[in-house]
Amino acid sequence: MKIIIYGAGKLGQRAISRIPGICSCNIVAVCDKSASLEDRKIMGIPIIKPMEIRSIDYDIILIAINRDDSIAKVKSDLQMLGVADTRIEVLKKSERFKAVWMDLRVDWIRNFSNYERTNGINGSVAECGVYRGDFSKYLNEFYYDRKLYLFDTFEGFDERDVQFEESLMEKGFLESKFHKKGYFNDTAINIVMDKMTYPENIIIRKGWFPQSASNINDTFCFVMLDMDLYQPMLAGLRFFWDKIEEGGAILCHDYFHNSLTGVKQAVTDFENEIGRRIIKAPIGDDCSIVIYK
Ligand SMILES: C[S@@+](CC[C@H](N)C(=O)[O-])C[C@H]1O[C@@H](n2cnc3c(N)ncnc32)[C@H](O)[C@@H]1O
Repeated sequence: MKIIIYGAGKLGQRAISRIPGICSCNIVAVCDKSASLEDRKIMGIPIIKPMEIRSIDYDIILIAINRDDSIAKVKSDLQMLGVADTRIEVLKKSERFKAVWMDLRVDWIRNFSNYERTNGINGSVAECGVYRGDFSKYLNEFYYDRKLYLFDTFEGFDERDVQFEESLMEKGFLESKFHKKGYFNDTAINIVMDKMTYPENIIIRKGWFPQSASNINDTFCFVMLDMDLYQPMLAGLRFFWDKIEEGGAILCHDYFHNSLTGVKQAVTDFENEIGRRIIKAPIGDDCSIVIYK
């Protein structure tokens, strides 16, 4: 398969280095409107302007851009150039190239789970915001000797959370695809459970978080918070903070997300609540921040 990567930024460069290891394909060009064309190459691949696409032999154009509004603009530009929809793929929605954008988080959790085991950090594991279990399966695999609590409505965003997010009046969210009750509802518990290597370790908590977390008297070595919106993210920090073992951590996904700005706000407000700065660090996926206890 011959691929043109659209976007010479961080995601485009990650795609150039990872895709050859995922499928047998040939990256024939990188297309970018604004990249410097001085040396006409990026990471050894010819760089072209959109107008030059017509002169290249390719099968698909893979849009390697993070922002939804920029993706929509590129798509419409490509359509204007006569590129068929069937030849346009968006990297961050692509199942076959999922490893490109999931890889860094997975590598991080693989390392961190080993570190916790060798350093004797005890406790269970939790993921809040499971969706179809594509990250839970790694938690289950790497933390094979721990209980794994999985929290989700399994019916998508709850109206109460979406309404609160609306009240924040953030343009990025209001204009994004996430601005909808029920977003992420195309899932079910059995879809998630079918992906688990150690299903006996799984405790499903279906329902609206934090209500779904009642009567849990456990401690945790690692918690992944990936519920996208301000209210549940803040509730997650409040619920788990005192239950995290020393040396353990909470990973807040989407902290750097352009449309889901409630996540960063929740972390800041939580720091204000407890009256001090918490120790946090990016994990290198351009999206998540880890909070150490
Ligand atoms: C981005 S998806 C999670 C993706 C998943 N962690 C992964 O990596 O594949 C966000 C999920 O959070 C869930 N969610 C959001 N707010 C919630 C709440 N208050 N209670 C329970 N689940 C919630 C949604 O239903 C959705 O499935």
